[in-house]
Amino acid sequence: MNLLIVGPPGAGKGTHAKVLEREHGFVHISTGDLLRSRALVGDPIGQEIRKTMAAGGLVRDELVNHALFERLAQADCRKRGVVLDGYPRNEAQAIQLDSFLARRGQAIDAVIELKVDEQTMVERITGRCACGDCKACYHDKFKPPETPNRCDDCGGHLVRRVDDNEATVRQRYKAYSEQTRPVLAHYDARGVHAAVDSSKPEAQVRAAILAAIGLDHSPPPVRRPLTPRPPRA
Ligand code: AP5
Repeated sequence: MNLLIVGPPGAGKGTHAKVLEREHGFVHISTGDLLRSRALVGDPIGQEIRKTMAAGGLVRDELVNHALFERLAQADCRKRGVVLDGYPRNEAQAIQLDSFLARRGQAIDAVIELKVDEQTMVERITGRCACGDCKACYHDKFKPPETPNRCDDCGGHLVRRVDDNEATVRQRYKAYSEQTRPVLAHYDARGVHAAVDSSKPEAQVRAAILAAIGLDHSPPPVRRPLTPRPPRA
């Protein structure tokens, strides 16, 4: 099963994609993470990517597609399936993805749209930090670490992204509204698009996502033993 998680910055794409990987065996691929790695190379392409991301714009399709399709071609993506976080972000990318998967006899099976309002998005992004080592995600207000600036899981240092400031996040939201949200129509036509209210607490959002993709195998309700009735007089 191949999934897309689509939504504005701070909608929770990374948060829920990581759970799908950890608990359900999907391979989580974030084009943001792929581009951040590529940007570390100090060549002209790396510099171009870094500049575009810092400004909150979309990186050129050619560069994103190269990074993504190279990753998708790896053997692990053939097993359980993938969850793509942050791709496609425009119509051209959606078409490219369709043809890439079709050549492999695959398709997108479900598209989860995470919906949050702009104010929630700004609050989430400006308070976000993540472990520089294991990438676990935290939030100053909603999910603070037990020890300040230290990861609960591995003890690594927490870091903030350079594009996680209010001005850039509003620019990222604009790019999402103008170029990415319209792509959902591409999947509506196939009946694979489901919208989830992502302003709710994390556990509720997770449950709604699992229900939308048919993985909500909640345990059956516990049957209480019947209390014996007192014998009739
Ligand atoms: P990318 O890295 O994809 O960033 P984004 O889309 O802006 O999304 P974020 O990662 O900021 O948010 P998220 O939805 O994952 O939220 P999270 O789960 O962390 O892209 C960055 C840049 O790369 C782009 O601007 C662009 O330049 C470039 N790029 C990437 N892909 C591209 C493409 N395909 N084409 C062209 N350019 C591309 O959650 C945020 C915070 O909220 C966390 O602290 C979390 O703990 C908290 N939180 C989450 N859910 C809840 C909840 N339910 N309640 C309370 N808090 C919550």
